[in-house]
Amino acid sequence: MTETASTSRGGGDVRLTGISKTYGSFHAVKPLDLTVPEGSFFALLGASGCGKTTTLRMIAGLEEPTTGTVFLGDTDVTELPPYKRPVNTVFQSYALFPHLDIYENVAFGLRRRGIKSVRKQVGEMLDLVQLGDYAKRKPHQLSGGQQQRVAVARALINHPRVLLLDEPLGALDLKLRRQMQLELKRIQTEVGITFIHVTHDQEEAMTMADTVAVMNAGQVEQLGSPADLYENPDTTFVANFLGTSNLIEAEVAEISGGDVVVTAGGAKLRLPADRCSAPTTSGGRLLVGVRPEKISLAHADDAGTVPDGRNRITGRIADSSFIGVSTQYVIDSPVCPEFEVYAQNIERDGRLGPGAEVVLHWNPAHSFGLDAAMDIDAGIETVPEEAS
Ligand SMILES: Nc1ncnc2c1ncn2[C@@H]1O[C@H](COP(=O)(O)OP(=O)(O)OP(=O)(O)O)[C@@H](O)[C@H]1O
Ligand SMILES: [Mg+2]
Repeated sequence: MTETASTSRGGGDVRLTGISKTYGSFHAVKPLDLTVPEGSFFALLGASGCGKTTTLRMIAGLEEPTTGTVFLGDTDVTELPPYKRPVNTVFQSYALFPHLDIYENVAFGLRRRGIKSVRKQVGEMLDLVQLGDYAKRKPHQLSGGQQQRVAVARALINHPRVLLLDEPLGALDLKLRRQMQLELKRIQTEVGITFIHVTHDQEEAMTMADTVAVMNAGQVEQLGSPADLYENPDTTFVANFLGTSNLIEAEVAEISGGDVVVTAGGAKLRLPADRCSAPTTSGGRLLVGVRPEKISLAHADDAGTVPDGRNRITGRIADSSFIGVSTQYVIDSPVCPEFEVYAQNIERDGRLGPGAEVVLHWNPAHSFGLDAAMDIDAGIETVPEEAS
């Protein structure tokens, strides 16, 4: 890269500043600032239509931003055509050249640049994606996952500084997807370049990425490591979109020490003040969140065994499903309708079936507080069941 070296810091980071895209009066991507650290595996996660592909295409140069700037390292590439950017993209439909064998598919980028001796590099790339034995096959003689790996090798042989992946695993079945997630992660670790991966699958984003940006309606709602986003969601959208959260509508009773004390449906609950992403004042409203696996379940007859200092609420089991490693319960409680609890199947209590009166309890430190003005159902996926 020699072009237009507008100066900035940041090594080889991808930096978007004030980038946006409007189509007519529709804001597909609202002005956003985003830094993707060099060498990281970064995921853009969000529901269909939230602006992921548009953002990716602006980084690739396939879409002209309405406002804002794209930096690759020190270089302002906003005005550069796609082929002048050190970026390659792998799409969901990976469109290999059907008449070329795997070897020639991978060699394509080198040949186009007039490079004659490609054998060593193609060999290395095929080894990287573990397809050394498939060099002479045609694309239709490979499985979907193998074809996807060819597409990755074909992009990586150009030594891009950034690889963009737009739902590359979308066409694969679930088991193959899981395998390919680990495979792509391994490849990224091995080559060490920046991967920006677009997906609507939260588990996929969490499995693969160092950093996840959760997008919603053209905006980044929250950005962080998978564990950080999961444990400390700032918005109801993130709390519901990433896994499952129980959100309890509560009223702040007092702030005592480092804790916020709230009341909800007759119960008194505590949570650490520093885990509230909304300002808390006595008498104000708050949504108290807790993840289903943080909760212990005891039969009401054993209520006396619940240790002091735990948040506790009572309820009745409405439903339970045994799914092997855990049992998932839905509890009807005055504190929160349809409270979800995931209990590991270690020693199962035969009394804990539908209709049983129970006590739920958890460590107050595992609660988080959100602004009660937010939509409590934001981010809950209402995907229709696939017809099968
Ligand atoms: N050329 C276009 N003209 C008008 N609207 C567009 C155009 N391209 C995209 N959009 C709209 O912009 C929004 C964002 O589109 P985008 O493709 O970025 O979504 P996405 O997050 O990638 O979704 P998906 O998960 O379904 O691929 C959508 O509402 C889409 O309909
Ligand atoms: Mg898309």
